[in-house]
Amino acid sequence: MKPRVAFFDAKSYDREYFDRVGRDWLDFNYHRFALDTEIAGVVADAFAVCCFVHDRVDRACLEALKSHGVRLVAMRCAGFNGVDLEAARELGIVVTRVPAYSPNAVAEHAVAMLLTLVRNTHRAYNRIRDHNFSLAGLVGFDIAGKTVGVIGCGKIGQKAAQIFRGFEARVLAHDPAADPAWATQHGVELVDLPTLWRECDILTLHVPLFPETEYLIRAETLAAMKRGVIIINTSRGKLVKTDDLITALRSGQVGGVCLDVYEEEDEVFYSDHSGQILDDETLALLLTFPNVLVTSHQAFLTREALLEIATTTVENILALAGGRPLLPGTVLVEPAG
Ligand code: NAI
Repeated sequence: MKPRVAFFDAKSYDREYFDRVGRDWLDFNYHRFALDTEIAGVVADAFAVCCFVHDRVDRACLEALKSHGVRLVAMRCAGFNGVDLEAARELGIVVTRVPAYSPNAVAEHAVAMLLTLVRNTHRAYNRIRDHNFSLAGLVGFDIAGKTVGVIGCGKIGQKAAQIFRGFEARVLAHDPAADPAWATQHGVELVDLPTLWRECDILTLHVPLFPETEYLIRAETLAAMKRGVIIINTSRGKLVKTDDLITALRSGQVGGVCLDVYEEEDEVFYSDHSGQILDDETLALLLTFPNVLVTSHQAFLTREALLEIATTTVENILALAGGRPLLPGTVLVEPAG
């Protein structure tokens, strides 16, 4: 019998790639809703649950999963702040994730958003569909010669910095663990945060959300930046204090914003709310600014990334079911013994 996998928050693209990679060996039970304690009962007989960023796998949920015999929580994403790892360890439930799927996908989306915003492509597209071929109000600027600041030079930040170097921008980067050899090789200058705030025309965030990075972008840091700075956040919503960002947009201190993530995104992103009144006044206000571009946490959404996510997740489920070692670097809570 194939191991059963209860799959939460399933979207059409998840089904397509997981079916392609794993349907021959695993019995997927796809659910459109996210996992929480109340509905943990639907996992009956499942060997594993497969979850995404907005699933809340807290202690009570894990206890319910344990009582139904679930052995593995397979996160099909890099982030795991929604999982109580300590509780999973105590309960003997294995937890895995996909630490990297396509750093290029996220870095390229950050650049795509920036180019759209600064060249007004989104406005031109709508205008021309309405047969308005006027160029008034569409003046942009070159990336070449500008100073771009990259905060966090891990897998994604490095790719973003390299792309911006290809645009002939000066690239400054800040990361306490940055690799100086990489920086030298790519002509990236490693600097402290005050220098970054002071000198950059464009800032792109690629740090994880930690207590020390929460609200990295807030009134005080915004005030230290160059007037008219463009900010890109494809990392985590809570890196930016949205109310302070709105104040800075209103005053012109910030000249434009690209957001693939938003601090209150859980209630809104990934679902179709068209035809409804948006019950989030801050987001509704942000969407009225012509110099704000928002996408719905889609930076990862490429064919390459989806294939990598499905392959890594399926391999780990099959490895645990077959008593084989899990893929190195993917295990958050190891199997007991
Ligand atoms: P990574 O772990 O390879 O790199 C993170 C880097 O941030 C590390 O080099 C680390 O030293 C650095 N860092 C940590 N604290 C810092 C601080 N206070 N200041 C400056 N640098 C600091 O992670 P990766 O793969 O590059 O991902 C970065 C983030 O991108 C993830 O944490 C996640 O939040 C986000 N992400 C967003 C996706 C999307 O679809 N929008 C998809 C995947 C990841």
